[in-house]
Amino acid sequence: MRHLLNPLDFSVEEISQLLDLASDIEHNLPKYAHVCDGKKLATLFYEPSTRTRLSFEAAMLNLGGNVLGFASADSSSAAKGESVADTIRIISCYADICAMRHPKEGAPLVASQFSSIPVINAGDGGHQHPTQTLTDLLTIRNLKGRLDNLTVGLCGDLKFGRTVHSLIEALVRYTGIRFVLISPQELRIPDYIRTDVLDKKQVEYKEVDNLDEAMPELDILYMTRVQKERFFNEEDYIRLKDSYILDRQKMKLAKKDMFVLHPLPRVNEISVEVDKDPRAAYFKQAQFGVYVRMALIMTLLEVEKPC
Ligand code: NCD
Repeated sequence: MRHLLNPLDFSVEEISQLLDLASDIEHNLPKYAHVCDGKKLATLFYEPSTRTRLSFEAAMLNLGGNVLGFASADSSSAAKGESVADTIRIISCYADICAMRHPKEGAPLVASQFSSIPVINAGDGGHQHPTQTLTDLLTIRNLKGRLDNLTVGLCGDLKFGRTVHSLIEALVRYTGIRFVLISPQELRIPDYIRTDVLDKKQVEYKEVDNLDEAMPELDILYMTRVQKERFFNEEDYIRLKDSYILDRQKMKLAKKDMFVLHPLPRVNEISVEVDKDPRAAYFKQAQFGVYVRMALIMTLLEVEKPC
């Protein structure tokens, strides 16, 4: 039985197959309408979510399966003090696969050790968010036609942004990837990403704080929200929250074929005037999230691709 806890749980070859399956799903949706008939997905969300939880549920419903679950810790037995280990043992009796989001780093890993069904990490604290990364990879591959030889700018909260950590880990496995890491000093990537991922793989990167200067060289700009819920003190959040605001003026500095991604939700970091720009890809990206999660559920449940 396989789980997805970290983007590296799949090899580059397996990711390529999964993205191919997601693309086939995108173009032939009705063909997949019954491949998971009779299967159940449990969504165990101990932290707020709109896209991730609902796109998982839409994915399972699109495959003909059913969904059950909870959308906040308060509405589960966690509020009574139940451990993740006990909860997953119970859920294993009710569902065939589960997606878990938890504020504590490593909670889905613990769940996987006690589970008899595949566990998907749907975001653990400030650590990882591998299904967002699969979404991002599908989006980049669709828009740019490749996952190699790209200059990728990551901008905003690189310290607490789990989508950033997962995306960097996944992208360093492709050739010719360069990163421009754009953030205030206090929100730079964690040391383990710098040493264990970027330096270890000898990936070219620079850490800067000026978005305007970085714009012209980027093929992809990945904007992120300052992660309010991970701050220890409100004053720091207020000081840093509007560090970057992407607007029409800044978009003028970018290449004609650069694309803007954002895992969403957006707060202030992308002005709504940018939504009309053909290079704004973040809403398209959310749609790709459904196809990639359909492909992931099929892969982990070992469901055959229909002819
Ligand atoms: C992200 C997350 O939860 O980490 N959202 C998402 O799943 N699309 C990004 C964020 O909350 O800023």
